[in-house]
Amino acid sequence: MAFKLTVNGKTHVIEAAEDTPLLYVLRDELGLNGAKYGCGVGQCGACTVLRDGAPLRSCIAPAASLSGHALTTLEGLRAPDGTLHALQRAFLAEQAGQCAYCIPGMILAADALLRETPQPSEADIRAALDSHLCRCGSHNRIVRAIQRAAKEVAG
Ligand code: FES
Repeated sequence: MAFKLTVNGKTHVIEAAEDTPLLYVLRDELGLNGAKYGCGVGQCGACTVLRDGAPLRSCIAPAASLSGHALTTLEGLRAPDGTLHALQRAFLAEQAGQCAYCIPGMILAADALLRETPQPSEADIRAALDSHLCRCGSHNRIVRAIQRAAKEVAG
């Protein structure tokens, strides 16, 4: 079937089976490789994107059901001139990624958190990222990176 998807502000016409997960469309059709395939069953967070600003597990969300929504991937966080988002800079500054496989999903979940709660407590951050798995054990650096970005955004 054919349907429209708006990703990072651009609308695309997609041809795909009705049940094709959004993750496959992003990576295989649109060349957006920020979202990662981890578990494939909605449990690890590696595939997280934003739907209208809220985190969405793209491995279990049929792409065809998302017409009319604004989707954002990690690639969409940068400014049009390529300047990295405050969260991206903070994750680099804190060296928060080791293998970094989980980091795109973590950053997008953090972006949703900071828009809802601009000055989150450590507990808020840990709760928001609770369902995002990191096998490297970078959790403390990830929390520090989000705190750093929150400070920068607050000015
Ligand atoms: Fe989607 Fe794990 S790959 S939640």
